[in-house]
Amino acid sequence: MSNQTIFKRLKKDHEKHRELLNRIETMTGESEERRTLFNNFRTEVTAHAAAEEETLYSTMLEDPELRHDGQHSVAEHHELDELMAELADMPMTDAAWTQKFKKLQHDYLHHIDEEEADMFPAAKEELSTSEAKELGEKFEERKPEEYARALEGKDMEDNRE
Ligand SMILES: [Fe+2]
Ligand SMILES: [Fe+2]
Repeated sequence: MSNQTIFKRLKKDHEKHRELLNRIETMTGESEERRTLFNNFRTEVTAHAAAEEETLYSTMLEDPELRHDGQHSVAEHHELDELMAELADMPMTDAAWTQKFKKLQHDYLHHIDEEEADMFPAAKEELSTSEAKELGEKFEERKPEEYARALEGKDMEDNRE
């Protein structure tokens, strides 16, 4: 069983997301490999964000000191979700795809940088280490369920590594 705090666990996912974005960015045009990477990114981020909301952010929303930060991040999840849905429906050969992907990359990196620099430290101050570890465990449980749900909703292949 995992004994990581929610913060360490979420950062581990963020590293994976940064790497996937980099790989997609270094490729050009439409290819099966690039499409698969993009689909993986979308499913992975959808599951990550849902499980993050069910654990860390639901806890933050209950705390008057952290509520505002929680709401900000959840609102960004919705915007990112829309961007990813738009990209999924466009051919990668379009110049508009590249433009929109750049926006997604910029906005997503901003989102996770902000979580790591502001949201997590603020939450860390209010939570005990055992609470943070419990949330980490809960995240570990919720994420595979959310991954399966994301695959179903988006009609995508399971490409988990
Ligand atoms: Fe997030
Ligand atoms: Fe996150």
